[in-house]
Amino acid sequence: MERTFVSQEELTRQMAIADRLKNELAPRGLLYYVETFGCQMNVRDSETIRGILDRIGYRESPDKEHADFILFNTCCVREHAEKRLMGNIGSLRDLKDEKPSLIIAVCGCMMQQKDAAKKLLRRFSHVSLVFGPNVIFRLPEMLASVLAGNRIEVTSEESFAIAEGLPQLRDNPRSAFVNITYGCNNYCTYCIVPYVRGPERSRDMEDILHEIESLTASGVTEITLLGQNVNSYGKDLAEKSFADLLYEANKIPGLKRLRFMTSHPKDLTDDVIRAIAENDHVCHHVHLPVQSGSNAILRRMNRKYTREEYLNVIRKLREAVPNIEFTTDIIVGFPGETEEQFNETLSLVDQVGFAAAFTFAYSPRAGTPAAKMSDQIPEAVKKRRLSELNALQAKKTVENNTKYIGFEDELLVEGLDDRSDDTILHGKFQNFKMVYFPGSKDLLNRYVRVKVLSLKNNSLIGEQVNE
Ligand code: SAH
Ligand code: SF4
Ligand code: F3S
Repeated sequence: MERTFVSQEELTRQMAIADRLKNELAPRGLLYYVETFGCQMNVRDSETIRGILDRIGYRESPDKEHADFILFNTCCVREHAEKRLMGNIGSLRDLKDEKPSLIIAVCGCMMQQKDAAKKLLRRFSHVSLVFGPNVIFRLPEMLASVLAGNRIEVTSEESFAIAEGLPQLRDNPRSAFVNITYGCNNYCTYCIVPYVRGPERSRDMEDILHEIESLTASGVTEITLLGQNVNSYGKDLAEKSFADLLYEANKIPGLKRLRFMTSHPKDLTDDVIRAIAENDHVCHHVHLPVQSGSNAILRRMNRKYTREEYLNVIRKLREAVPNIEFTTDIIVGFPGETEEQFNETLSLVDQVGFAAAFTFAYSPRAGTPAAKMSDQIPEAVKKRRLSELNALQAKKTVENNTKYIGFEDELLVEGLDDRSDDTILHGKFQNFKMVYFPGSKDLLNRYVRVKVLSLKNNSLIGEQVNE
């Protein structure tokens, strides 16, 4: 598909509407509340949405009750999300009755499913704005229309134009997400993402590097490059690849940690492995979803690699990059999955030794090929397989953690352990391993050296050491 961009003219027009709204709205001290579901794409989109709302003159509300604008940014990758969202929206009816000026909006992937936006507006009279992830740049115009009393729905049927240079508002001063591709072309047979996020489009490398430069100039030191399949970055551009991007980004002053997700095993080619090994800021962690350990299931999932090819990529990365850690995603109970095929997933998990695995029971998504497959697995079987898999991974996590006793490295402090009265901090080594250690709040968002001393309930416990 031909890449298109939202024109500069259009972006200027939207921002002019935002500024006009700000003149009207800022004196009223309006507050917004944004709740985000789903993956990092949505987290990043919510930062753009918050940036635009900020420009319009809204400030962040600590809770829904005080907000004048409530937005749900939705995900539809598995089914249970839908029920939760409906419950969430339903429970706002009283609030809207008390405060008729309250605007309730819903956006994100779920709204991009066929007829979902229209249905939602019909079902909930207290919702007044619904939009899809590809039209976020039009938020000023949409909000102006809602403030004028309209109820509207804007989703993209075919325009998947890239909007550059939108405002963003982030909470974390050190760490930031940067999109490198939008959409997905892989059409794994279980997955809804290509239908709701559109075809894969790469951003121009100059735009990406420019965004990283301005982030590092403002104090960000950790960047995570985002895409549904980051390694296929550049396939729609002339002579640019994901590996090239890693080499270029690695040179940016002020950058300490360069992460990326999600990688697809079929595209994790030797040049990418070399780029991970040769660039000092590229972190030694790869999130590499395997989905299944059975070749028959991988084929039916349309994953385009075999178990052996997957294991080969892991082996090559371990040879090239010392201390590298892997995390993965796994689906159990894909249609037709036999006990034997499930056991192949267990044996793969046992063999690789992932630092962590995100495991899911297969959830049929309307419109995807797997949802129509005749041999669906009963829920009880999926549940049992999921707990078997989780038990094995828990054991592997402990094994993996045990290696770290006595290990010491630089750690970026990310947060406070809520249960600890502000005395226990947590943060990550560059290879994504998380450690808890005693320390004071002023270390938040700073880099410190930490040595791992012990294990407690699946977590690493350490202490700060001097340089
Ligand atoms: N682009 C990424 C992530 C996509 S969604 C990738 O290719 O890996 C994140 C994870 O959700 C997937 O890796 C998969 O494990 C899971 N998932 C996607 N569709 C699902 C479905 N229909 N049922 C259960 N899990 C699903
Ligand atoms: Fe979905 Fe597959 Fe694309 Fe990932 S690579 S977003 S699982 S279709
Ligand atoms: Fe969900 Fe959309 Fe991400 S469906 S997983 S929020 S791309």
